[in-house]
Amino acid sequence: MIAPKPRAVKARSRIPEDSPKQHARRILASFPTAAGRGAAEPLSWRRSEVRVFPTSGVVVLALLLASCGRGAGDDRAATAAAPGDGGPAGPPIALGAGAHETLPWAYVLNDPAPEGATPPDPDEVVTVPGSSLSLRRRDLGIANGPPDWHPDGHPPMPEIVASGAGEGVLPCGYCHLPNGQGKPENSSLAGQPFEYLVQQLDDYRAGRRRTAEPRMGPPTLMTTLGLNLSATDARVAAEYFSSLEYRPWIRVVETDSVPLTRFAGWIHEVVEGAGAEPIGERVVEIPEDLERTRLRDDASGFVAYVPRGSVARGRELARSGGGGRTVACTFCHGAELRGIGPVPALAGRSPSYMARQLFEFRTGHRDGSWSELMDQTVAALTVSDIVDLVAYLASLDP
Ligand code: HEC
Ligand code: HEC
Repeated sequence: MIAPKPRAVKARSRIPEDSPKQHARRILASFPTAAGRGAAEPLSWRRSEVRVFPTSGVVVLALLLASCGRGAGDDRAATAAAPGDGGPAGPPIALGAGAHETLPWAYVLNDPAPEGATPPDPDEVVTVPGSSLSLRRRDLGIANGPPDWHPDGHPPMPEIVASGAGEGVLPCGYCHLPNGQGKPENSSLAGQPFEYLVQQLDDYRAGRRRTAEPRMGPPTLMTTLGLNLSATDARVAAEYFSSLEYRPWIRVVETDSVPLTRFAGWIHEVVEGAGAEPIGERVVEIPEDLERTRLRDDASGFVAYVPRGSVARGRELARSGGGGRTVACTFCHGAELRGIGPVPALAGRSPSYMARQLFEFRTGHRDGSWSELMDQTVAALTVSDIVDLVAYLASLDP
């Protein structure tokens, strides 16, 4: 069932050969054609009703892009805008800096297992609240696909989501969960626009979406999987995930101190009885219930601890652009940050995931057909800007 893979990687340089204005038009032209330009009604992201930016938005966007006339990717640091009121804390994140070294809380690796830890019994029969299913732990391996604890919580999964397609194409639902809610080490897919998901999978297939931290397992697996995924399976999966509603999943808590955590299985795990530590300039995203998350329960969400004041600072940056330090996110992602047309939704999504994306747009690891639209936004961001932005975005109602 695997279709031949279109492997031709389109050569693309960050230096536009045409004028900035033509360049901007070319990028905009890659968006689907408008079905209702200028429409003021709420925008929908269902495939059949997709709208692009209203006409005025297109003009402003083109001007915005035309005005940024940058050079090659590696002098994007030079685009750093003058700081606005309050100024950014620290310098913009450096190109070429290690991903885990820059944002260890977003690029979570694995610590060695604690001494004397005993692995759970593979024959133990387990279940989760609200499920009529019982499984042996050993049945939770990826070869069996995602455990479907709550089959009533989503439409029937297509084969690609439930079982994968061989040749490194692992079942999508195993990582992204059957209902597409996702986890901090991967991403939520539920409710993202169909065109957006298809575009991302095209970018993966063309090698234009890479990870900045190959030591982190899940993004590396996604990259390999993306290179091997057929165009047909990509569309089937995108159709499934875009049809799902993304539900509130992350509880954002502002705090000065967080429970001490260790890195295990690519997430933060609370070290029981170890007390607390200052949060510092971090977001610490932790399962609400570690055991349920380990069992891949798609009804158990996450809590994100964020520094005190970060939500309000992030709101200011996201809504005003921080006096030129970045570009108002609402401009492209919608007033409620729930996405517009093919532009993805950010509200209520994983802060760890979003932080990785901001870093990867900045370093060019994420270099898909539409990624240039994010260039100016990320050019001058500091680590604390990223913390503030993702804290605010995650705190919003999806
Ligand atoms: C091994 C775990 C794993 C499996 C299996 C997996 N993914 Fe992913 N996926 C990831 C991770 C991790 C990311 C986020 C990478 C990052 O942080 O940049 C991701 C990101 C994505 C994105 C980008 C989302 C966005 O908002 O831009 C899409 C689309 C996607 N996956 C689709 C799929 C599809 C379709 C399948 C099944 C064919 C699948 N994935 C299977 C781990 C997985
Ligand atoms: C000029 C339009 C534009 C502006 C302004 C903009 N974005 Fe984006 N953003 C996009 C587009 C288009 C994409 C999809 C890029 C791609 O496909 O590679 C995107 C993608 C993203 C993603 C990745 C989402 C995912 O699911 O992987 C994040 C996170 C993001 N933007 C955050 C922001 C933040 C934060 C701001 C404001 C500080 C912002 N954006 C401002 C157009 C914009």
